Amino acid sequence: MALWGGRFASGPAEAMAALSASTHFDWRLAPYDIAGSRAHARVLHTAGLLTDSELEDMLAALDRLAEDVASGAFTPTIADEDVHTALERGLLERAGADLGGKLRAGRSRNDQVATLFRMWLRDAARRIVAGTLGVIDALVEQARRYPDAVLPGRTHLQHAQPVLLAHHLLAHAQSLLRDIGRLRDWDERTDESPYGSGALAGSSLGLDPDAVAAELGFATSVENSIDGTASRDFAAEFAFALAMLGVNLSRIAEEVIIWNTAEFGYVTLDDAWATGSSIMPQKKNPDVAELTRGKSGRLVGNLTGLLATLKAQPLAYNRDLQEDKEPVFDSVEQLELLFPAIAGMLGTLTFHTERLAELAPAGFTLATDIAEWLVRQGVPFRVAHEAAGECVRLAEGRAAGLDELTDDELAKIHPALTPQVREVLTVGGSVASRNARGGTAPERVAEQRERLVARLAEH
Ligand code: ARG
Repeated sequence: MALWGGRFASGPAEAMAALSASTHFDWRLAPYDIAGSRAHARVLHTAGLLTDSELEDMLAALDRLAEDVASGAFTPTIADEDVHTALERGLLERAGADLGGKLRAGRSRNDQVATLFRMWLRDAARRIVAGTLGVIDALVEQARRYPDAVLPGRTHLQHAQPVLLAHHLLAHAQSLLRDIGRLRDWDERTDESPYGSGALAGSSLGLDPDAVAAELGFATSVENSIDGTASRDFAAEFAFALAMLGVNLSRIAEEVIIWNTAEFGYVTLDDAWATGSSIMPQKKNPDVAELTRGKSGRLVGNLTGLLATLKAQPLAYNRDLQEDKEPVFDSVEQLELLFPAIAGMLGTLTFHTERLAELAPAGFTLATDIAEWLVRQGVPFRVAHEAAGECVRLAEGRAAGLDELTDDELAKIHPALTPQVREVLTVGGSVASRNARGGTAPERVAEQRERLVARLAEH
């Protein structure tokens, strides 16, 4: 039953109705729609448009409708264009057409849907934050489990400088913490209710939008009814926050995939978080990580698709806006599937610390330490860099490590290169020396971990 029969001589064509229908995805807004209806009934009553007993009957009918929606006794039919239409039918069935028909005064599906979508997303944001915290916890747990393990830190995927494994894992945790911060900031901006904006111009019936806003958990109502019904930057920004989160998870996943290869041999996956091959009996595949990487592409697509939908829409509401919900719902759903799996996979990784330690100095990762040691002896960095580079060339030429160069060889490269330089030619010495705030020295990393844990407790 459509909400707009009056001026039409016939009902919609079947294909028109099929194109138009959205209950297969917007039905999840039903509890929010009913909450909006309760608040709207109260402002109609305050404005003198419902009597005391009408309000009472209306709220009772809405309660029965909410119960029937929750139990599945009331569901949308193909004839219901959208969630709002279906629930109006449900209300008329329960409250009677005379009373039920009063609720539509002073509101439009345009301000309803803009409000309900925000409410749904704000609740989803809380679930996404909780899921992200689960992944951060897994990283922090591993950092705690391996407080002294080292590995070759990389730039350009090449061995660069040794770092603590815990430092590397916490780097990922830091980016996820910012993803949470982004959702918090977003929530503050989204804390305005469009209810009362009507179709676009606002309400003439003396209804108080702020009273509705307060009842629906918003700090305030929107400043501008056109903006309230037409804007969807809240949805795009939310989709971005989730896409960024997906990309950050994907970068972790990509590393797990590489670390799990025979060539790297950094980690072993727990059996519960790996899969086999239907033909190759020996295979143990990192599917959780690959699906994480794959789904991040989908999240990026959801964001760009939504932006493309919004682009070039004139103010105010256009039906194109019905396309705003599925991509964002999908991003939430995919992340909710991912969180427990990626947290499970990360939390149960076994790191092969001996192999990591063996690789940490490989590829002359201590060359920078030679250069910086020389700087501490008063040698200009330009000269020190050259000298350390010569050490690398010499060692590489005879397939030796930097620590295997003789005292004579060192002295010949630069007179300041005394045997004392050997104190920085160990991975432990190198890591310990990077002890400024933010560095990879064990005590700095332990502090970083503690501060991070303290910040987690704020959420
Ligand atoms: N279902 C629509 C949406 O999601 C809301 C209905 C507005 N329809 C209208 N013809 N004004 O955007």
